[in-house]
Amino acid sequence: MARTKIALVGSGMIGGTLAHLAAMKEMGDVVLFDIAEGMPAGKALDLSQAGPVEGFDANLKGTSDYADIAGADVVIVTAGVPRKPGMSRDDLLGINLKVMKAVGEGIKNNCPDAFVICITNPLDAMVWALREFSGLPHNKVVGMAGVLDSARFRHFLATEFDVSMEDVTAFVLGGHGDTMVPILEYSTVAGIPVPDLIKMGWSTQEKMDAIVKRTRGGGGEIVGLLGNGSAYYAPATAAIQMAESYLKDKKRVLPCAAHLTGQYGVDGLYVGVPVVIGANGVERIVEIALDDEAQKGFQVSVDAVNELLDACKGLDSSLA
Ligand code: APR
Repeated sequence: MARTKIALVGSGMIGGTLAHLAAMKEMGDVVLFDIAEGMPAGKALDLSQAGPVEGFDANLKGTSDYADIAGADVVIVTAGVPRKPGMSRDDLLGINLKVMKAVGEGIKNNCPDAFVICITNPLDAMVWALREFSGLPHNKVVGMAGVLDSARFRHFLATEFDVSMEDVTAFVLGGHGDTMVPILEYSTVAGIPVPDLIKMGWSTQEKMDAIVKRTRGGGGEIVGLLGNGSAYYAPATAAIQMAESYLKDKKRVLPCAAHLTGQYGVDGLYVGVPVVIGANGVERIVEIALDDEAQKGFQVSVDAVNELLDACKGLDSSLA
């Protein structure tokens, strides 16, 4: 039986971390692709040499030839440019749209049956464009944002409540980062909703508001600290969780940028919602009733995504 093949398109900071995690978990063989000649081969060789020490068996290959991603079961896309301090995710649109075109065609021609996870920002627009350019079914193309946003939220909540991260769940909807909509009623410690924890005196609404604000700006906070580039450890971990749910048919319920066809009153857009990921890709979209405030917040996200899609269509007439 052939080993699972994981193609990483973009072998920079997130791509390299993805390769490391995939190898350590023995998820399959890994192909690191990048337009930068030599660099993906260097990372593949370096990681391969960690194998004997860590005890993992995975073939790692670096390449700048799309033919090498042929037959990949999962493709994780980070190709493009990351933010520099002072840039918003939307500032990346023009450059990364062209990258999505090349990547989409590479996937279409070499591994049209793959499950594709997009990480490139601005996420909700790039995953839509990548789907358009690749022509893959909508359930096989998904964006990584919500798992990361909710992980940031969970980290801050666990610290505030002084409990294990494992016991904190968070529910987020909407666009990546700045426009994410956390639903506190569905965010819990061991099943106890956050509003109940506030009533129990574990924290205050003001502290929760501050945590929500910090989570929304969580990516920017890291960009500011790094000074050159954006977050990569947590984004890579989040995408690996999504890939594992697909490869092992785990049917995890994860917040992802998924293609909506009427759910939440949205049609034809990729927006962050909870989905079930299994062997058929996005198998179900979890639709909950939103109260007025959440609905308003979600609409802000949807409007922001729509604006970006209009900008994409203006930049590339094949998308119009
Ligand atoms: N095809 C393949 N790879 C490309 C292309 C392309 N057309 N254009 C750029 N790349 C490669 C770059 O050579 C670089 O190695 O994409 C890689 C991106 O890596 P980094 O610059 O280290 O960026 P990273 O931190 O990994 O983030 C990648 O994810 O979170 C988002 O905002 C982030 O859009 C950014 C992406």
